[in-house]
Amino acid sequence: DSIPVITIDGPSASGKGTLADLVAAKLGYWVLDSGALYRATALASLRAGVSLDNEHDIAALASQLDLHFEGGQVFLGHEDVTHALRDETVGAMSSKVAALPAVRLALHSLQLAFRRLPGLVADGRDMGTMLFPQAGLKVFLTASAATRAERRHKQLISKGISASIADLREDLEARDLRDQSRKVSPLKPAADALMLDNSSQTIEESVDLVLSWWADRR
Ligand code: C5P
Repeated sequence: DSIPVITIDGPSASGKGTLADLVAAKLGYWVLDSGALYRATALASLRAGVSLDNEHDIAALASQLDLHFEGGQVFLGHEDVTHALRDETVGAMSSKVAALPAVRLALHSLQLAFRRLPGLVADGRDMGTMLFPQAGLKVFLTASAATRAERRHKQLISKGISASIADLREDLEARDLRDQSRKVSPLKPAADALMLDNSSQTIEESVDLVLSWWADRR
């Protein structure tokens, strides 16, 4: 059918979210930050004290998520969880709940519902491979682990949170390994994805490149 989709997949802290937001803003499209759904499931599980062995209960929490995106903020019910979702503990837990098949299934239709006119830019790990295999453009965004750890570090410092670059890099690499090696929907480029390494690119250069790829395909 005719609702256009651009997918942006890649490892943690590669800049998918920023790229997706800027490309979507240029095109006037909707955005799906699919990682936020896994993060919100992780947050809800941590709060409810549900252990990872309990796949069924975590999937139930995922299917009941009352999540809203409003102008750059994320709400769980009435609570603004924008910052809580970015917490490193929640990030680490999110890649553990994301490995549970029942959780991925519970979040499936919720994600598909983001596909609305005039179009969607979806970012995550399996947008091009599983959720939107028919997407008109699939980008696989990467950057070196050193670059990604530095960016995450800057982000945290700007929020007044201190952290060691070495620890951040270790966390990122552990999360990537979990995401790449899980049985369901592992992180990997779709066969027809275009590879974009933005280690030595500005965000504007990446945005322009994706927009030119999109223009070529329309
Ligand atoms: O992108 P973000 O870092 O917010 O994602 C958090 C975690 O959610 C990832 O480490 C990954 O395990 C999981 N995720 C996923 N599939 C997606 C998006 C995120 O498994 N489409």
